[in-house]
Amino acid sequence: MTIHHLRRNYTFGSLSRSDLPVEPMQLFKDWFAQLHASELPDWFEVNAMTLSTSNLAAGVSSRIVLLKHLDEDGFLFFTNYDSSKGHQIAIDPHVAIHFYWPIFDRQVRIEGRATKTSAEISNNYFESRPRTSQLGAVVSPQSEIISDDAQLARDMDELDKKVGGQSIPRPENWGGYKVTPLMMEFWQGKPSRLHDRFRYQLNEPTGVWTIDRLAP
Ligand SMILES: Cc1cc2nc3c(=O)[nH]c(=O)nc-3n(C[C@H](O)[C@H](O)[C@H](O)COP(=O)(O)O)c2cc1C
Repeated sequence: MTIHHLRRNYTFGSLSRSDLPVEPMQLFKDWFAQLHASELPDWFEVNAMTLSTSNLAAGVSSRIVLLKHLDEDGFLFFTNYDSSKGHQIAIDPHVAIHFYWPIFDRQVRIEGRATKTSAEISNNYFESRPRTSQLGAVVSPQSEIISDDAQLARDMDELDKKVGGQSIPRPENWGGYKVTPLMMEFWQGKPSRLHDRFRYQLNEPTGVWTIDRLAP
């Protein structure tokens, strides 16, 4: 397959030091709000992010999850705690998350620590999900080998009938993680591959972020 000619020129804009707030979360929120306010194709999920986990035994794994909440100091997503990612995070909570927003020629790289959210936060989000998603979360042993998908559909039907009109309680092995960032890098593509890159690094004892410009 010949693909070496595939190349875009990035012309949307630039990022300079004077654009940078003291806190990286503020810049993330500004970029996210700009996306949210834009006319985007229906298929483009602005809150889709790549989550990478690793540990010595299992190596490195990446997959997409959806960002479901953003607070002053963290990024929240929801998943099955017994999944591959859940097992990896239990061994090593250091994770990386990554966003690529081609419409603005931007990427954001985040590295930090994942911790489970409180039961209350997980319950609130679980209750807000459509009933079919709740049923799916209960019956799917995420990341395990299964023989076919028909069994899952049968299990969902069975559970639906068993529960009747009642609400579906959140399974204990399903809930949220919050990723608290220690490093955030903002990348703005520019022509001739002279992209702007700024990295924020947290000094944990002081809570102060240092900012460095990195070569593209
Ligand atoms: C657009 C998109 C959104 C997804 N959102 C989630 C999510 O929020 N939570 C989740 O557990 N899996 C989500 N997935 C599925 C994961 O990518 C992955 O298949 C699953 O979590 C199992 O990963 P693991 O075996 O590494 O634990 C999503 C996949 C896609 C393509």
